[in-house]
Amino acid sequence: MGYRRDTEPKACEITPEAIWQERRQVLSALLLGGASAIISPTAHADAAPSGRLLPAPRNPAFVAQEPPNSWVDATTYNNFYEFGTDKSDPARNAGTLRPAPWSVTIGGEAQLRGTFALDDLLKPHPLEERIYRLRCVEAWSMVIPWIGFPLAALIQRFKPTSKAKYVAFTTLQDPVQMPGQRSGVLDWPYVEGLRIDEATHPLAFLAVGLYGRVLPNQSGAPLRLVVPWKYGFKSAKSIVRIDFLEHAPKTTWAVSNPREYGFYANVNPAVDHPRWSQKTERAIGAGLFAPRRATRPFNGYSEVASLYTGMDLAQWF
Ligand code: MTE
Repeated sequence: MGYRRDTEPKACEITPEAIWQERRQVLSALLLGGASAIISPTAHADAAPSGRLLPAPRNPAFVAQEPPNSWVDATTYNNFYEFGTDKSDPARNAGTLRPAPWSVTIGGEAQLRGTFALDDLLKPHPLEERIYRLRCVEAWSMVIPWIGFPLAALIQRFKPTSKAKYVAFTTLQDPVQMPGQRSGVLDWPYVEGLRIDEATHPLAFLAVGLYGRVLPNQSGAPLRLVVPWKYGFKSAKSIVRIDFLEHAPKTTWAVSNPREYGFYANVNPAVDHPRWSQKTERAIGAGLFAPRRATRPFNGYSEVASLYTGMDLAQWF
């Protein structure tokens, strides 16, 4: 991601970080005298998924053109600043998060509100698996089989009032469990938001698992958002509050650097980030010599385009 105000560059600037990781892999491949280690930027790319099983039927309406990434790609190359700004930090450091017991508060402009144990919140919603592409603002992408349920189902259950124009998602704030919150790299807690018509679009998803397992901590346990047509920073992790609001919430990256990160954050090859192009992307795990791919508008999910009819997406980036 970007700079925090005018301080030094942060390790989250993915392009240099990715190149560095790949260089390291090339070096170790050369040292080992083999080529297999450069197939993925991460080591042990064939390691099997681990954690508690969470079987869910695949919804065939949501499958990607590309094969899914490996479990290792998805769980060792993460953004989760509550555990550090390096891609490898969350997998190393997120062991301090206690995803159970967990409760989520539903508040704001809704007929039903309250604080619910996660299990009670999930109970009415059958789980399904959907394969979604996630495209990070830093110009890399992954394809991941998520397990969860449509955000729209949860929203309908709590009966938002006519004043509810936005939905805000707030992450846990606890510097003991999330040691990265002791740093001022972002304003905590991490907050994201969607317009209510975006939030109720059938693609918007609340995930509790991936690859047939419960979410590992670094992936946003125990409850995270997946909004596949938007840059990855909209997909808030470890959610503790969902609020229905009349006005747009102040979202973390837009507060941190409004010139670089907007509220909408729709994947858009035509609107560059001020410091890098969004025209192409690098598929994590595709290998060092794989060509970059063209970024697709809305990350390929063109069915959402009608949500933005009449809006200048260069202004509302
Ligand atoms: N959620 C919280 N709470 N904290 C974060 O730092 N990073 C975001 C998003 N959700 C982040 C977060 C960013 S920048 C991205 S790209 C995605 O999580 C990364 O999700 P992944 O690690 O599962 O790929």
